[in-house]
Amino acid sequence: MLADKRILLIIGGGIAAYKALDLIRRLREQGAAVTPVLTRAGEEFVTPLSVSALAAQKVYRDLFDLTDEAEMGHIELSRAADLVVVAPATADLMAKMAGGLANDLASTLLLATDKRVMIAPSMNVRMWDHPATQRNFAQLQADGVMVVGPGEGPMACGEFGPGRMAEVPDIVAAIGAALGDGPLKGRHVLVTSGPTHEPIDPVRYIANRSSGAQGAALAAALRDLGARVSFITGPASVPAPAGVDVVAVETAQQMADAVAAALPADAAVFAAAVADWRVANAAGQKMKKDGTGKPPALEFAENPDILARVAQMGDGRPRLVVGFAAETEHVADYATAKRARKGCDWIVANDVSPETGIMGGAENAVTLITGQGAESWPRLPKAEVARRLALRIADALG
Ligand code: C5P
Repeated sequence: MLADKRILLIIGGGIAAYKALDLIRRLREQGAAVTPVLTRAGEEFVTPLSVSALAAQKVYRDLFDLTDEAEMGHIELSRAADLVVVAPATADLMAKMAGGLANDLASTLLLATDKRVMIAPSMNVRMWDHPATQRNFAQLQADGVMVVGPGEGPMACGEFGPGRMAEVPDIVAAIGAALGDGPLKGRHVLVTSGPTHEPIDPVRYIANRSSGAQGAALAAALRDLGARVSFITGPASVPAPAGVDVVAVETAQQMADAVAAALPADAAVFAAAVADWRVANAAGQKMKKDGTGKPPALEFAENPDILARVAQMGDGRPRLVVGFAAETEHVADYATAKRARKGCDWIVANDVSPETGIMGGAENAVTLITGQGAESWPRLPKAEVARRLALRIADALG
């Protein structure tokens, strides 16, 4: 998948540096050539010998190493790659990148390169959450730096939360996608995700419990296969993945407009939990108790069915239209009927009975309904469901 690609890998000084060794192996397995650069701090975690042995290349360490300058100057080194990857990207390295510092070999290469840069952040959760790091992170994203991770989970420092470096297979997949080698290269896929908020008045709204986790995972999986992803999301509780075109909306009507604006697409996946109804008589000012003890009467109007609208459009219909169905009983039967009613190609159905813990949880057990029938998948992490679904979409688009 990465045959003949050249990757300049900058290894920062964090505990996750040990994963960089495995990353080198996996990248080389895929046919990539890895030129490693080890920061001073990185050397405290992994040795230059193990890095260069795994890369089967010299490891670059010092800006003022004259031999290096004779063999290959730092400018050339920064450009003789298809992609620059920083893993682990520590808080310090991210700060240097965001500020444009060039006071060691790694930061100088990052400032001098004319190639795309991907970072895999890794740090303690407090350091990640710190406003300074978040500021630097936002700056790097604005500068076009690609990001993979960080994930959430137990950390070597004993704390738990975001800041854990992405796992090696995810970094390899993101590199593959960035180098445009995935099966969805050149395809545009639209994904809706999250809940919608339907206002009652300027401060109150009707919502639902969708976290947006499955939609976000799906957008990331499609991106990893090389697709350009338009990610149209209601107010979700999980962040949108990096490297996708995010359109943030609140109401179903706004989501419908954003979907129409994002078309045409090769495929469209409707993972959002859209409110069926909006408040027709939403108040322009905050509603007050009127002293009579009588509750206000809300009137409802039907929201557009975005999935059905796109599935049933003539010209410009995406080749593959996929809906989701959350059911609490007779999952396959209800979802099969929904597929016919909406006119979509596939329905991804799941059982959201409270005892399954699926709604808002980390796992999903889905039944895929296609024209060929129903296929039940085992219970899997949402990221794995997303990966399998993205591969099926790639297959269907051919
Ligand atoms: O009819 P129901 O809400 O169960 O259908 C669920 C599917 O339809 C999901 O894919 C959801 O994203 C989509 N949908 C939509 N617009 C609506 C309601 C549902 O796109 N107004």
